[in-house]
Amino acid sequence: MDAREAREFRRVKILGCGSAYYAGQLGAQFIEEVARMPADAEPASEFRYRNPVIEKDTLYVAVSQSGETFDTLVAVQELKRKGGRVVGLVNVVGSSIARECDGGIYLHAGPEVAVASTKALTNMGVAFALLGIHLGRIRDLSPADGRRLVEGLQRLPEQIETVLKDEERLASIAQRLASAENLFYIGRTRGYPVAREGAQKLKEISYRHAEAYQASELKHGPLALISPEVPTVAIVPDDELVERNIGALHEIAARSGPLYVVTHPQVDLGEVQAEVITVPRNETELDPLLMMIPLQLLAYHASRALGHDVDKPRNLAKSVTVE
Ligand code: AGP
Repeated sequence: MDAREAREFRRVKILGCGSAYYAGQLGAQFIEEVARMPADAEPASEFRYRNPVIEKDTLYVAVSQSGETFDTLVAVQELKRKGGRVVGLVNVVGSSIARECDGGIYLHAGPEVAVASTKALTNMGVAFALLGIHLGRIRDLSPADGRRLVEGLQRLPEQIETVLKDEERLASIAQRLASAENLFYIGRTRGYPVAREGAQKLKEISYRHAEAYQASELKHGPLALISPEVPTVAIVPDDELVERNIGALHEIAARSGPLYVVTHPQVDLGEVQAEVITVPRNETELDPLLMMIPLQLLAYHASRALGHDVDKPRNLAKSVTVE
């Protein structure tokens, strides 16, 4: 698809399942922010059943690690049947979804063996960033901002290494989290898909009940459940919403809810009592990619602390190739 063709699209719709859908939510926010195109993500498993209106000026994106997820594959087939243009962000080369799409980007995460998606997820985030930068640069994104974001992507591997060095401490925090039966994960805007993915990982491999919520929605219901027995993992990047996020932490602390805050070193939490996990700052739009890493380690170590098989969680298959 050349630049002239790609400029014809007015919207982006991302389809995937599970963690791929959460990566899609991150991708949609990135694309909307950077390329200034309306973008959203929807579970492919819902999209395929609701007889959606397919628009010619929407770029559809199917995202999948395995490339064999049946719901995503059928969603792509339905799109094509109705004349939609669909690109794939797929890890497994030559897989069914990759072959079915009109074009795409391979994720190049290498073989991902464990049932829980980890490195493929990070690569999905990077691929969405590249797509967003491309769509932005053929619209209004300045060369300087394009370069700023590409340089941010280049810094990611080293920054991920820094987070991994904190593993021992994260393991001891995970042990405490593992003793809770119920947990909340909260985040706002870019932080919300991070929270959703963090909660999904914990559920998937430690079998603890973890619920993700927008921090802004807490006061509309879930605050009622906050208590000393229900820890909250909060995603608090150093962005334009930091003060509002700290406000939500105060609400939780006032109800004696234990707090675990994933944040940046620059953020001052003031009087909030919390276990603080810091990750290095990147560019604001790319920060969610780094914030996912400690959450994966927390889930991994919580699972191990409980004596579960991290690679093969019960009731789950690596690729869901059935209806
Ligand atoms: C991720 O940890 C899960 N195992 C699951 O949600 C997975 O992401 C989903 O089934 C989609 O798989 P795919 O990326 O292979 O399409």
